[in-house]
Amino acid sequence: MKAVSRYWVASVHVALSLIGPPYTAGTSGVCRKNAISRSLFSSKSVYMSPAAHVKARCPVYPGSDTRRFPVPDDKVDWDTDWPQYSPVNYTAPTVLKRPVWADPEIGAFSPQFNSLDGSVDRRSYGGSYRLQNGKPLNPHGRTGLEGRGLLGRWGPNHAADPIVTRWKRVSTGQRVHHTNSQLPVLQFVSIKRLDCGKWAIPGGMVDPGERISQTLQREFSEEALNSLQASPSEREKIQKRITELFTSAGLQVYKGYVDDPRNTDNAWMETVAVNIHDESGNSVSELPLQAGDDAGQVSWIDVDSSLALYANHLHFLETVAKERNAHW
Ligand SMILES: *[C@@H]1O[C@H](CO)[C@@H](O)[C@H](O)[C@H]1NC(C)=O
Repeated sequence: MKAVSRYWVASVHVALSLIGPPYTAGTSGVCRKNAISRSLFSSKSVYMSPAAHVKARCPVYPGSDTRRFPVPDDKVDWDTDWPQYSPVNYTAPTVLKRPVWADPEIGAFSPQFNSLDGSVDRRSYGGSYRLQNGKPLNPHGRTGLEGRGLLGRWGPNHAADPIVTRWKRVSTGQRVHHTNSQLPVLQFVSIKRLDCGKWAIPGGMVDPGERISQTLQREFSEEALNSLQASPSEREKIQKRITELFTSAGLQVYKGYVDDPRNTDNAWMETVAVNIHDESGNSVSELPLQAGDDAGQVSWIDVDSSLALYANHLHFLETVAKERNAHW
């Protein structure tokens, strides 16, 4: 297992580079981080196993009273014939109002699916997806709901998750080793989401025309900087440090479909999770974030297998801890 996971992680190392200023956020406020029911290390099989999505079949659609048409495990696959299938049609009123981050209804609108459509990337990390009556089909199968629900785009809705880490240190600078594992302890920047009260990685949606590397830095900057009581000149200094750190090589931890309760038959979440690590501890490690206090909204949190996070975020952190030979 060790050899396999090392090989897998080594194959997805990426170097990130940054161009241009931060963009403004275009995401809805919904708690979007959710479980994928399998280990990251079997991610190769995700696309071949449509039954994997579970959250995407949650009975009541988030932010609504709309109930999905129930889809049993053996009917998830589109290739399984099921004439009785009658998904509920639901697109949230906020999406139908056509905010900048949302597509129009199909009909008057025919986007270039499976390609870069102007500045909107409609390609899936899972390869080419199918269309039915001009609408994209969820590559993981039926969800019991057609339309877009809370998602703005037909087809893939791209997000990015920056996992910013440092070593836990005592005040004199030595790294803290865990008493059980004897391994050094990592900490990561976590935000407490207002919508559901859970700790999460400060990710967000990729804006049109934006590089993943830009999204990662923008989301992190927004979350981390907004929490600080800093003067404009201090902010500028902090922003410079963030830019430097995010320009260095990152470790890609996950790239693909997210089993999210907002997914529908025609719209779904995909993400790229990247670990940005402050090895020396003299970059963003010095950001005066709240230290593990529930009252704070942004904190450095110790990386440990017992963390209560969304399951897919826990998998991301496990990958980071193992790759960095840290306590887990
Ligand atoms: C689904 O609902 C939308 C509005 O929410 C509507 O524009 C569309 O025509 C409906 N589609 C079907 C197939 O009924």
